[in-house]
Amino acid sequence: MEQKQDNKMEKIVSLCKRRGFVFPGSEIYGGLAGFYDFGPLGVEMKNNLKKLWWDWMTRDHENIVGIDGAIITNPKVWEASGHIKSFVDPLVECKKCHHRFKADDIEEKKCPDCGGELTEPKTFNILVPTELGVVEGEKIRAYLRGEACQTIYLDFKNVLNSSRLKIPFGICQIGKAFRNEVTPGNFLFRQREFEQWDLQWFCHPDEMKKWFEYWKEERMNWFRSLFNHPENLGFYKHEKLAHYAKDAYDIEYLASPIANGKEMEGIHWRGDWDLSGHAKYSGEDLSYTDPETGEKFIPNIVETSGGVDRAFLFLLLDAYTEEEDRIVLKLDPKVAPYKVAVFPLLKNKPELVEKARGIYKELKKRFNTAWDDRGNIGKRYYAQDEIGTPYCVTVDFDSLEKGTVTVRDRDSMKQETVGIVDLEKYLKEKIMGV
Ligand code: GAP
Repeated sequence: MEQKQDNKMEKIVSLCKRRGFVFPGSEIYGGLAGFYDFGPLGVEMKNNLKKLWWDWMTRDHENIVGIDGAIITNPKVWEASGHIKSFVDPLVECKKCHHRFKADDIEEKKCPDCGGELTEPKTFNILVPTELGVVEGEKIRAYLRGEACQTIYLDFKNVLNSSRLKIPFGICQIGKAFRNEVTPGNFLFRQREFEQWDLQWFCHPDEMKKWFEYWKEERMNWFRSLFNHPENLGFYKHEKLAHYAKDAYDIEYLASPIANGKEMEGIHWRGDWDLSGHAKYSGEDLSYTDPETGEKFIPNIVETSGGVDRAFLFLLLDAYTEEEDRIVLKLDPKVAPYKVAVFPLLKNKPELVEKARGIYKELKKRFNTAWDDRGNIGKRYYAQDEIGTPYCVTVDFDSLEKGTVTVRDRDSMKQETVGIVDLEKYLKEKIMGV
């Protein structure tokens, strides 16, 4: 089967709904643009991805700790951060069909839908406001956080004072962010509610260049280890910088089928913008004093800020493969929702079902394991391939007589006979690579 790039996205959207990865948000009410729910398989995959990121940050790096900050903060935060003034999207509208577009997405100066003339760009602030309080007239305006990283700056001093960390060190966080995107679309790519994984690395101003280069490479290598086609990942250097950045690169997924839709993660040279801004607006001293030299300075920041949902989407695009007579999600086993599926060869042989149930229950303690006894083995393989389950274990009459099972590999489709006593170790080596 030939794989066409332009409709790959449609196929993924359909697979995601059909198999329970991602559903349109509030669908029974006609949906709401820019909002999605993760279904039973999607939440497993997303949690796997977030755990991999979290463990890599906090365990593979000695001096990184995590926080989980609030979504609503004191509204002054967004003044200090520059978002109230500068977090804007320029928007143009077609004078003929009245469709709206982000000015940045328009290459020619006419409407991409009908060719009509466009208005001059107008700017819209994309912070999502909310109101706190119950008495009309006394409510205060607050904002759902427009980027997750702000709470890290707010907690910088608390983390420093409650730990033994010394500069350089990092604080990481995974959390929701909200933006009133004027043109939400392209499935998970541009949503109004989405998740970010951020590292804020605090260092001496003289060491910014070194750490900026270091984190750029580190993050790229991490992504490369998860994609089947690492050659589809690249860097893009920003010419136009965000209000806080002195230098910035995106890690892009180059095979993205979305026009202007490649950015997966940003590596930002934020300098002292954040801590200086919050120190000025809050009146708190957010400087750091080096315990050895006594030097006092405002730590500078290298940020790595990625979209969990975009990584999720790009990993699906990277994994989606059409072969002769099957569709396979060739996901890294560490990311796949189920690691293994267990089948009894025949559903109507109680002794096979009982043996298979025993194996299933044991494996379930260790790995996310699926059970399937519907249809024939071929159909079960097809169903598991489509959701990316890397290994299928079939329990047959040899399992009863010789204590063995057949393990089938998703990608090669090769089958191996494995002793039931060795099965957990065998799968652990295959899945975790240890
Ligand atoms: N703290 C810096 C910051 O928020 P950003 O480039 O605006 O930087 C970081 O966002 C990442 O968040 C992006 O690389 C992208 O993966 C993700 N992201 C941004 N807007 C998004 C949206 N509307 N929907 C889904 N993901 C989004």
